[in-house]
Amino acid sequence: MSINGVINFSLLAKGMVSFYKYKILPQRQKPNQVKLHMYTTILRLSLSFFYFQEVAGNLKFSFSSDAKESMSQTVRFVLAVAAGKGGVGKSTLTVNLALALQKKGWQVGILDADLYGPSLQKMLPPDTPPQQSLADPQRIIPAQSSGIKEMSYAFFSQDEEAAIVRAPIANRVIKQFLHQVDWAPLDCLLIDFPPGTGDIQLTLMQEGALSGGVIVTTPQEVALLDVTKAIQMFDRMQIPILGIVENMSFFQEPGTQMMHYPFGKEGGKRLSKRFGIPFLGEIPIDSAISHSSDAGQSLLDVFPDASSVCVFQKIAQDLIEQLEAFEHLEGDYLKNFELNWQVQR
Ligand SMILES: Nc1ncnc2c1ncn2[C@@H]1O[C@H](COP(=O)(O)OP(=O)(O)OP(=O)(O)O)[C@@H](O)[C@H]1O
Ligand SMILES: [Mg+2]
Repeated sequence: MSINGVINFSLLAKGMVSFYKYKILPQRQKPNQVKLHMYTTILRLSLSFFYFQEVAGNLKFSFSSDAKESMSQTVRFVLAVAAGKGGVGKSTLTVNLALALQKKGWQVGILDADLYGPSLQKMLPPDTPPQQSLADPQRIIPAQSSGIKEMSYAFFSQDEEAAIVRAPIANRVIKQFLHQVDWAPLDCLLIDFPPGTGDIQLTLMQEGALSGGVIVTTPQEVALLDVTKAIQMFDRMQIPILGIVENMSFFQEPGTQMMHYPFGKEGGKRLSKRFGIPFLGEIPIDSAISHSSDAGQSLLDVFPDASSVCVFQKIAQDLIEQLEAFEHLEGDYLKNFELNWQVQR
């Protein structure tokens, strides 16, 4: 099936009250990605219904599946938060996404993979430091901050000492963080990617068993240039990008409806259209964000009414839905899956 542009169908599941939307991706996306998204939507629906049918235009599809929801594994999902560019808000999104996912009942971990500019220790200081495992001295028990598991190079360096390590050592550290830390059980491990598209990013992509990536950008053209390179890197490594988040999108004057766009408007949306990647949301410039992260406090607890909080919550919910849909692509799910279609007369 070859479809140009983005088309929305409405899927009506038998016995269901609400409609679901099924998006077919632009043609530039690889056929298997189109198929993947198709299955994702189909399987999301088939979780609780063994049969449903769609009537769209003059096409009639019917599906059946006897698949059952699979049990959670050790680390269910590994999600990269990347940008290619520095200073656009990767760490901010990682931390607040982790907090929002935790509020939704997920067990979350954060791997701060930015060895040369780690920020996790400052943004979400741990209550307990990382420890050597008693059961296996080769393994590390991650640090914890209010139930969020954490690992960062900063935990192993002296106060404010710069990480001056050559690439092979940096890569080795990253591999240890991925493979020798007792992350499990987790619903989601978020990896705060370092800026750039270099060696460490490649190692993370090759060894991190990534479920997908979220791309962060700011609206201005200069940022979009670098972010485009990151998108291409994910594409080349065949890691699905679950969405683009635009940070520092606008500033709303307190107490008024006056909006300012100091970095330009809708750069993230343009990028999302160009690459056919879902747009997840616009995070405003919000002093609650910078104040809470500078103080090492949870934005969601300290400023629960901040306008940015609901944006992080919406992004978290969107990602949960996408990731859970992906989860059902694995295992036995497709074995008993059948797609039949016929042209309606
Ligand atoms: N929406 C926002 N509103 C206000 N301040 C923000 C916002 N997003 C990020 N900041 C602040 O901007 C600074 C840079 O953000 P952050 O450290 O998350 O970027 P980064 O992409 O991780 O940077 P680096 O590439 O250096 O790791 C931080 O001080 C952060 O608190
Ligand atoms: Mg950072």
